[in-house]
Amino acid sequence: MTNLSILVLHGPNLNLLGLREPGIYGSLTLANINHLLETEAVNLQVKLTPVQSNHEGVLVDNIHGALGRHQGIIINAGAYTHTSVALRDAIAAVNIPTVEVHLSNIYRREEFRHHSYIAPVVIGQISGFGSQSYILGLQALVHHLRS
Ligand code: DQA
Repeated sequence: MTNLSILVLHGPNLNLLGLREPGIYGSLTLANINHLLETEAVNLQVKLTPVQSNHEGVLVDNIHGALGRHQGIIINAGAYTHTSVALRDAIAAVNIPTVEVHLSNIYRREEFRHHSYIAPVVIGQISGFGSQSYILGLQALVHHLRS
């Protein structure tokens, strides 16, 4: 039961959570969110590896690096969600089950946020539940991997 390893990828500007537009993204910091995730990971008996980067290529490298190391990926690609064919291709290339999460409900916001390049290559997307989006995403991913 303890053998699953999950990569948690946080994209650009998420290092500023807590400070950044708290009316939209809430007051928790990224460290707070990683701590909540770690508590849930202990409950679920999985291992988490959280990574944050503001650089598209570093996120791509981390997705490639997951091959043979992680069985699942949780990704909040931030603004790259709406722009990055490279991230989408990386997820499709490694073919590791991935869940897309967003703190805010991207469909209630500006039109340019309504399209996700990565949505067609992930198992599913959770959007709009604040930090709970990550917890729900982790639960859904682990359930998927174990069923
Ligand atoms: C976000 C939504 C994106 O549109 C935005 O660019 C982000 C955060 C979210 O978690 O709600 O950086 O992914």
